[in-house]
Amino acid sequence: MTNPKTLAARFPGDFTFGVATASFQIEGATKEDGRKPSIWDAFSNMPGRVCGRHNGDIACDHYHRLDQDLDLIKEMGVSAYRFSIAWPRIIPEGVGRVNEKGLDFYDRLVDGCKARGIRTFATLYHWDLPLALMGDGGWTARSTAYAFQRYAKVVMARLGDRLDAVATFNEPWCSVWLSHLYGEHAPGERNMEAALHAMHYTNLAHGLGVEAIRDVSPNVPVGLVLNAHSVIAASGSTEDKAAAERAFEFHNGAFFGPVFKGEYPPVLLDALGGRMPKVEEGDLTTISGKLDWWGLNYYTPMRVADDAARGGDFPWTKDAPPTSDEKTDIGWEIYSPALKLLVEDLYRRYDLPEMYITENGAAYNMGVGEDGEVDDQPRLDYYADHLSVCADLIADGFPLRGYFAWSLMDNFEWAKGYQMRFGLVHVDYETQVRTVKKSGKWYKALASEFPKGS
Ligand code: NOJ
Repeated sequence: MTNPKTLAARFPGDFTFGVATASFQIEGATKEDGRKPSIWDAFSNMPGRVCGRHNGDIACDHYHRLDQDLDLIKEMGVSAYRFSIAWPRIIPEGVGRVNEKGLDFYDRLVDGCKARGIRTFATLYHWDLPLALMGDGGWTARSTAYAFQRYAKVVMARLGDRLDAVATFNEPWCSVWLSHLYGEHAPGERNMEAALHAMHYTNLAHGLGVEAIRDVSPNVPVGLVLNAHSVIAASGSTEDKAAAERAFEFHNGAFFGPVFKGEYPPVLLDALGGRMPKVEEGDLTTISGKLDWWGLNYYTPMRVADDAARGGDFPWTKDAPPTSDEKTDIGWEIYSPALKLLVEDLYRRYDLPEMYITENGAAYNMGVGEDGEVDDQPRLDYYADHLSVCADLIADGFPLRGYFAWSLMDNFEWAKGYQMRFGLVHVDYETQVRTVKKSGKWYKALASEFPKGS
């Protein structure tokens, strides 16, 4: 069902439709107004880490084009904008001196949204850790969690009166496992012990951050954004089903467990507890402080098979192939039923508050045609398909309150550099010209219906 009007009829009138971005992926201006390097500035300048050795120095030049981009968001017909705040602009060394010019930028951003009637959903940490904190070990050090708490306080003291929602972290799975165990994201470590330290200290930072936000801005709804994995067993065999359960606990339970149950999954503790840092008294209480909402970033399912015979580290699984060839340009399988299975499974396992889809979208790399249009029908189909599942979830009674498309515009896709394009708006990186794609026009037709009756 791709008719935006028909789709709109399946969502409640107060549903939020928004677009999402993240600081490092769009801002550029990495050396301006007192910003100091983040771990991604360092990582992207090392050979062999990011495709084409691309970096964030210019990106979408959003820092200099703020007003134009806020006009673009308004033009997309959405009622909310999810963006992230760059820690290295606010406290350039991670600890110590606060940089007023950094705060000024987000002041202008938030005021600019308000002036345009757009609600503000801020994320405090979307992976741009101040590089200086690596001197103490970055996320493998407990002190980083306290540095984050202070940063959260500073941001809320300045912006809290105008934020409609705040998330502590974006996708800790990536900043923990992908960054410290699989080596694909900054700082590029491949070490289980380091990863387990990053896991606990990131969870702790989340909890300390929630306390800080509640303290400074008690009226701002606080949440956490997780890329929960919809784990599908490669077969119905007992071994593969057990493997899928282990994978669930490793990829999801490591974060959902402490945050929503106040405990690490027992299977994870059995296998890896001895290599974790000390969980101090009170840590789990801090981590499991009540949240007002949570965000799900969903793109693709995870298919796994048993790999216990090979030994090695928990969860003793290997990737299994998709059952169809439908993929986006980044190679991720398209399978929307997994989104529904995942949400059902998570609400069954945990006591979860209301939710938003904080990211969903597809990489397709087509450019601007001779007619000046970007014909990205497959992206439009992907959105329609997944939004239809969202409407099903609402019909089934799940407390889904909003949906943010990833992304407003093409941007720096981490280790893939600028090669992968996720935008509803095309960016020409030579000229910085923005062109609304076919999918963007379609999303506008849908989003502009909300809030209904306005
Ligand atoms: C998740 C991340 O939050 C975002 O930064 C990234 O660009 C998208 N997924 C696509 O990979």
